[in-house]
Amino acid sequence: MSKAFFVTGTDTGVGKTFASCAMLEAAKSKGLSTMALKPVAAGAEIVDERKTNEDALQLQAHMSLELPYEQINPVVLDAPTSPHIAAHIEGRKVDASRLLGYCRGALLNRPDFALVEGAGGWRVPINNRETLADLAKLLDLPVILVVSLKLGCLNHAILTAEAIANDGLTLAGWIGNRVEAEPMEYESEYIASLKGALKAPMLGGLPFSAKSAPVEAAAEIDLSALDL
Ligand SMILES: Nc1ncnc2c1ncn2[C@@H]1O[C@H](COP(=O)(O)OP(=O)(O)O)[C@@H](O)[C@H]1O
Ligand SMILES: [Mg+2]
Repeated sequence: MSKAFFVTGTDTGVGKTFASCAMLEAAKSKGLSTMALKPVAAGAEIVDERKTNEDALQLQAHMSLELPYEQINPVVLDAPTSPHIAAHIEGRKVDASRLLGYCRGALLNRPDFALVEGAGGWRVPINNRETLADLAKLLDLPVILVVSLKLGCLNHAILTAEAIANDGLTLAGWIGNRVEAEPMEYESEYIASLKGALKAPMLGGLPFSAKSAPVEAAAEIDLSALDL
């Protein structure tokens, strides 16, 4: 059976892509077929004469299905900023229903395990009316929250979990990610507090990886709570 999840984070740069790649590797090692989408990305570079986004390329490198780039990342905007600003600069319109169409199309590939990576955090605007949460709602997928283990993460994680619940979606699990070489002070107390506050299983605690290697981090992920 194909199971898909929406991946959000407590902020931008918290390791959504890193953790997604680690989850893809963890699922692959269980013999599952995998796919990950980045429906809208802000921040482009030209690779092989094609406009691409680094997150989407990383997801593509770690998933098992071989899909054309456009299916993985249908909307790539130039400016590395909020999607609604990046789209406005280019005179483009991004809206949740169109992103939904792209995602639904790609999900027809029916991998055993699929991820849809958001951009920024839960409430990042995609236009003047909608945020990326509107796409998550239309997709109606359970959510995986990536928490970067740093000062302030309790507030960010609890607020995000509240917003997900208020939007009528289920938090399926969360991942604690060490984005800095030095663990935060009182890390174990923070993890215990997150476990108490977030009504969902912790799927793993990812170590800081100097080589930024999701394959190594995959060993720290336990997807069993997701019932794949
Ligand atoms: N556990 C980790 N160890 C080392 N580097 C990490 C780790 N998690 C994330 N990073 C690095 O931090 C940066 C932001 O991570 P990324 O996954 O791109 O965040 P997001 O997708 O939430 O914006 C990237 O350069 C990434 O390689
Ligand atoms: Mg990312």
